[in-house]
Amino acid sequence: MTRKIGIIGDGHVGATVANYIVVNGLVDDLVMIDKNEAKVNADAIDFREGMPNLPFHTNITVNDYDALKDADIVISALGKIKLSNNDSDNRFAELSFNIDQVKEVAPKIRDSGFNGILIAITNPVDVITQLYQQITGLPKKHVIGTGTLLDSARMKQAVGEKLGIDSRSVTGYNLGEHGNSQFTAWSTVRALDQPITELAKSRNLDLDALDQAARYGGFTVMQGKGYTSYGIASAAVRLAKTVLSDARTVLPVSNYRSDYGVYFSYPVVVGRDGIIEDVPLDLTDEEKDKLQASADFIKKNIEKYGE
Ligand code: LAC
Repeated sequence: MTRKIGIIGDGHVGATVANYIVVNGLVDDLVMIDKNEAKVNADAIDFREGMPNLPFHTNITVNDYDALKDADIVISALGKIKLSNNDSDNRFAELSFNIDQVKEVAPKIRDSGFNGILIAITNPVDVITQLYQQITGLPKKHVIGTGTLLDSARMKQAVGEKLGIDSRSVTGYNLGEHGNSQFTAWSTVRALDQPITELAKSRNLDLDALDQAARYGGFTVMQGKGYTSYGIASAAVRLAKTVLSDARTVLPVSNYRSDYGVYFSYPVVVGRDGIIEDVPLDLTDEEKDKLQASADFIKKNIEKYGE
């Protein structure tokens, strides 16, 4: 059986995702779509020219929505390319531009007959994921946002660095909006086989500072290079790989929370059929309040900016 992924948007993020996919031979067929025909064609040629020196072959199709019909996954990586400096710390600044783009693209994905898993990276990702679900009419469990998979990675990196251990040896989650109302649920975080709340006492860790590092990590990157790409692409590809191989991994990704009526990140089991199962957490009262506030923030902004 052949594996196929479509990527909508060939900017910094889309091209980095495509590079991971091609270099790692993740699929047999890759569909790349972008309004900038010259750029997307150039990238496709560039990838093909890499193949003689790669161990994998990937068939690349450019700007063909019909080719999405039998794709396993479509990844939305489109977004406004340049934000003003004032907006570099506000993912909602992209909303009106990106909503218009999604309203153009989502019906084309739907009309192709695509019925696989749709992964949204496009910001503000929780709102955009919901919009994709509404327009495509795909089952909610098949439309997933990368959400705080990236912020959880930033938290693990910050904690790992502080403790002098591999970030992959830190477990736990950032929850809520992939945006400023998110938070690290410290009650879920463990390292060195201990709850981080205990380690914080013996190692003198400032959890608030680490929480800030996770929340604002992306903005440090934004300030340095004007966009983020490698961290988010790793998160998106991990999510895509989890789906393709039906790995049933527990991941904090943006999924529809029926009890709140919006998409936001909370850990779920992810596999070939998208969101397979909810993972209940034993959050503290303070964390529950923060989650509610984050959900309220997303709702308020959907109302404010309209759909
Ligand atoms: C980031 C972008 C993807 O946090 O929102 O890097």
